[in-house]
Amino acid sequence: MRVLVVGSGGREHALAWAIAASPLVDALYCAPGNAGLAEEAECVAVRATDIAGLVGFCRREGIDFVVIGPEAPLVLGLVDALEAEGIPAFGPTAAAAALEGSKAYAKDLCTRAQIPTAVYRRFRDPAAAKAFIASHGAPIVVKADGLAAGKGVTVANDLATAYGAVDAALVEARFGDAGREIVVEDCLTGEEASFFALVDGTTALPLATAQDYKRVGDRDTGPNTGGMGGPSPSPHLTPALEGTVMERIILPAVATMAREGRPFKGVLYAGLMMTEAGPMLIEFNVRFGDPEAQVLMMRLMSDLLPALIAARDGVLKSVDLRWHTEHALCVVMAARGYPDEPEHGSEIRGLDAAAADPKVKIFHAGTRRDGERLIADGGRVLGVTALGQDLAAARDRAYAAVGRIDWPQGFCRRDIGAAR
Ligand code: AMP
Ligand code: GLY
Repeated sequence: MRVLVVGSGGREHALAWAIAASPLVDALYCAPGNAGLAEEAECVAVRATDIAGLVGFCRREGIDFVVIGPEAPLVLGLVDALEAEGIPAFGPTAAAAALEGSKAYAKDLCTRAQIPTAVYRRFRDPAAAKAFIASHGAPIVVKADGLAAGKGVTVANDLATAYGAVDAALVEARFGDAGREIVVEDCLTGEEASFFALVDGTTALPLATAQDYKRVGDRDTGPNTGGMGGPSPSPHLTPALEGTVMERIILPAVATMAREGRPFKGVLYAGLMMTEAGPMLIEFNVRFGDPEAQVLMMRLMSDLLPALIAARDGVLKSVDLRWHTEHALCVVMAARGYPDEPEHGSEIRGLDAAAADPKVKIFHAGTRRDGERLIADGGRVLGVTALGQDLAAARDRAYAAVGRIDWPQGFCRRDIGAAR
């Protein structure tokens, strides 16, 4: 088969690495890719959101199957455009991707499907939103409805911060159309966990769980990021709780979307808060997490590609995936200044020594080659990922690999997987 992976992050590197190992693959491409992806796949210079460019590439190259990493092309309708041309693609249609593309749609779906989630209200009028916030009190959470590059959520500990978030979205239009409507909701407390399931429209197959460390600094300080690393499995999801998540969150969402004419296919990623009342949904995403995909792919024993094809074909019932019982842990190395203004252009050395351990894999995000030199070219740059017999062993191995990387302009959190 001729396969295309769309995207350029650590998630896509991990997916391409897993797909490249499939005996089904004759040729593997990635658009646009990065320096690490270039070792697994042939990188083509088409942006992940260039729908016409991607469809054209697939037609020219006779691509048999497309795997889409990030949410933006899904929300823009890449799967619809590919399938309309007869090119099979893994991921939801634009209509189903609204589960991530519109928080208001997702919250209303939770109401209809009786999925446990924070109590919420939707607003377009700033004065009405502020009046509600004043009567509710802090803490409270304000979210832009649409995709806002990870900046659309404000967890406000005081009223002034909440009002500021209302103004940013509804008055200053800082998120453009993505912020024309907001969701205001209760603040949940507990540990967070990421839960993933493959879905084929009607059937859902649980994958594995993970944890993501979202703040940039140790002990959860500093601004939110795309994710600074974390372990799989999640230390906060027991097998019994995984069953609860399937029954109360994943399966009702899948059934309701099918019933309402927006069947969901792809990866359903539930961001969870483990509250005293049980797991509650923070948000749905319609794709693998990043860095969560990196720890998931390290633990996957089975061939990923036929499972993705089965999800697209609506025959997921026939799939049984096996996972290493070992734990995996990813430490993200980011460029100094991330997430606000990462420095670009510094050289990274020592990756071969760091990846010499067969239980270590270094996934690339923002990297490019300049001749033989490896250059940092983004915010999150490397995902140093390791397996170990338990969480501590995986953590020690990942940090030992980090220690062998010679990149003074990079940094990472030092407490990924540490007891909290
Ligand atoms: P998002 O950008 O949608 O991934 O949300 C970012 C983060 O905001 C989540 O990972 C949570 O840490 C936090 N968050 C979102 N909604 C809530 C909520 N209702 N209560 C507490 N924290 C929340
Ligand atoms: N790691 C969080 C995300 O992928 O959204």
